[in-house]
Amino acid sequence: MPFNVIAADNVDRAAIDLLAKEAQITLIASGKLSRDQIIQALPVADALIIRSATKADAELLSHATQLKVIARAGVGVDNVDLTAATEKGIVVMNTPDGNTISTAEYTLGLMLSLARFIPNAYQDMREGRWERAAFTGVELRGKTLGIVGFGRIGRAVAKRALAFEMNVIAYDPYIPADIAADLGVWMVDLDTLFKESDFITLHSVITDETRFMINAETIDKMKHGVRIVNAARGALIHDDDLATAIKSGKVGGAALDVYQIEPPPGDNALIGLPGVLHTPHLAASTSDAQINVGIDAAKLVIDALLNGKYANVCNPAVLNR
Ligand code: MLT
Repeated sequence: MPFNVIAADNVDRAAIDLLAKEAQITLIASGKLSRDQIIQALPVADALIIRSATKADAELLSHATQLKVIARAGVGVDNVDLTAATEKGIVVMNTPDGNTISTAEYTLGLMLSLARFIPNAYQDMREGRWERAAFTGVELRGKTLGIVGFGRIGRAVAKRALAFEMNVIAYDPYIPADIAADLGVWMVDLDTLFKESDFITLHSVITDETRFMINAETIDKMKHGVRIVNAARGALIHDDDLATAIKSGKVGGAALDVYQIEPPPGDNALIGLPGVLHTPHLAASTSDAQINVGIDAAKLVIDALLNGKYANVCNPAVLNR
């Protein structure tokens, strides 16, 4: 029996090609796809591939009558209602490997941009000025980088930061200290990380413990002039508290690639604030990463539909139903 697949959010061509090779799979919709287009195709779909643009919430999933799997081409599944999916017996899987390096490289780019004011100087020169003194930066060498969340991306950032001769410390309650030590990184508690770091980079998922972990109280524990990078999830930071700390100089700069609401609404306290660099969720946006996660997602779907095999399941309870 043929299976119907929707590949939304402009998932990479490599994924489409892989699916097209399978005689038992029919691609019923692909490309950018609006919510309405997905809803239209959903009642006859067996699998849905998405990136972060599609919100697979309970309302959207209510249109699925035979959907077996959702494959997220990327890491975060915060755009999928896992409870609703589980209730409907839909297995949700992600592709945690494919964009690690792109995200880690981008994080270093954001750190260097903060340290050396590269985007600010570019903009200034475009506006006709030749200003040098205002853009005197700092070196990364010898500075302490605190990595919050020491999973795949955190570790890839650590390796690159060590090549810049930074001192690297990390916090992650779920990663054994010896994994860090083997890389030349010290695991510390969160208060120590806040106290010691010149740069802090966030690589955690959103949980009840991590939501708004960067707030007035935790910022108070940090070094004066600390620089903060977030290419993980917007809700790790309390926006208004960070804006206040930037204005007071307590936080020397922030580079943000992610936001609580994407795109952020016009009244977001951080957008356009001097001292804040912001980019539109680009860390994983390389052709390399998108090919990787697209292929991984297509393979997950093929294996699930044709062989009944599941990997990287984000709602394991669904398998015990
Ligand atoms: C991820 O979760 O994989 C990244 O944030 C990139 C994306 O949203 O696709």
